[in-house]
Amino acid sequence: MRVSSVSFANWRNLTSASCVMSPGINVLWGMNAQGKSNILEGIYFFARGRSFRGSKEKEFIKFGEDFASVSMSFRKDGYSEDTDLSATIQKTGKKILARNGATLASSSEMMGNFRAVLFAPSNLSLVAGGPLERRTFLDIAISQLSPLYLRYLKKYSVALAERNALIKMAQDGKQVAAEQFDVFSMALSEYGAWICSFRNEYVSMLNSAVNGYFSEMTDGREVPVLKYASHAVSENMPQPLTKEPAKGDTGVLYEKLSANLEREIAAGSTLWGIHKDDISISFNGHEAKPFASQGQQRSLALSMKLAEADISAKIGSENPVILLDDVFSELDINRRKFILDTLGEKSNRQIIITSCDPNVVPDGSFGNVNFLHVHAGEVDCGH
Ligand SMILES: Nc1ncnc2c1ncn2[C@@H]1O[C@H](COP(=O)(O)OP(=O)(O)O)[C@@H](O)[C@H]1O
Ligand SMILES: [Mg+2]
Repeated sequence: MRVSSVSFANWRNLTSASCVMSPGINVLWGMNAQGKSNILEGIYFFARGRSFRGSKEKEFIKFGEDFASVSMSFRKDGYSEDTDLSATIQKTGKKILARNGATLASSSEMMGNFRAVLFAPSNLSLVAGGPLERRTFLDIAISQLSPLYLRYLKKYSVALAERNALIKMAQDGKQVAAEQFDVFSMALSEYGAWICSFRNEYVSMLNSAVNGYFSEMTDGREVPVLKYASHAVSENMPQPLTKEPAKGDTGVLYEKLSANLEREIAAGSTLWGIHKDDISISFNGHEAKPFASQGQQRSLALSMKLAEADISAKIGSENPVILLDDVFSELDINRRKFILDTLGEKSNRQIIITSCDPNVVPDGSFGNVNFLHVHAGEVDCGH
């Protein structure tokens, strides 16, 4: 799919701005703090249903105004007409989402229409960072591919918060019946088994795709191995993304949650579950985090993002739009060429890049590049 055009009203510093995108490479360029990332934030909002910078929705609203809105037309591969999506966030907290003019009931309903893969400098620490970063990577990627996954993720986090509240009550010396804990332990085991089976399948696809990219990028001397690290993984896990939706074994998690309540009360929170899981990454049997060089960690993070786009294209039967926020300036010219070759020329994906430097795209055969100059919240075409 590709973005045809996008327009903003009172969206941060974009008082009234619009831009037309071309199918290939688009470069949003301009000095710092002009509104480049704000444009990507608006586009990505339709894919993820929230800000990629962790901001609250009300923060989208231009200082002193009552609402913020973004509208986008995009076209699916092989279609001859655009689909329109729009979002308006009001100061009161009310949010209005629409597709082709018809109101959508929720963010979940909006997600799944438009798909994008975002690569920001913070993603370069995907390997070196903590488990939460890698779980978030999985949650964002899989949520875009499966509404079912998103649903279980939400249910899991509600049940986890409730169970943690009970644990806190018990820790404060209040009486909590065993059956009360049991209700939430069962819920967490059930939703956790679903989430685990999705993530486990996703990581095995990720592993093969990352291997290919990483060896192309580094001459293939070392082979990384990615595995989903969770005690909820069991034999013969279901493959809910490519085969029939099915949950994994609820037994393992339920047993942990039933047998260790005393420890959890002492600790004040739920100690077992998919909120503790991780992707384990190793090179030749050695864990990547302490042993891989910075360069290897970057190439690996980059490979994971390229793999995310491939899996999205395969499972979703549609090329996602690639958004590169300021990331190019952080990469050497060979890696830039590799990315553009892989994403643009080979797979025909639309790429939207933000950069301070209009010459960020290396000279070469990348066809027409659409330059959009962003200055003080306004956009005009030109180099
Ligand atoms: N709610 C808001 N209202 C008005 N301006 C905002 C708001 N939020 C952020 N900004 C402004 O947006 C600008 C940053 O835009 P950004 O897209 O991050 O810049 P860049 O071009 O460097 O990517 C800053 O000038 C900031 O003050
Ligand atoms: Mg920026």
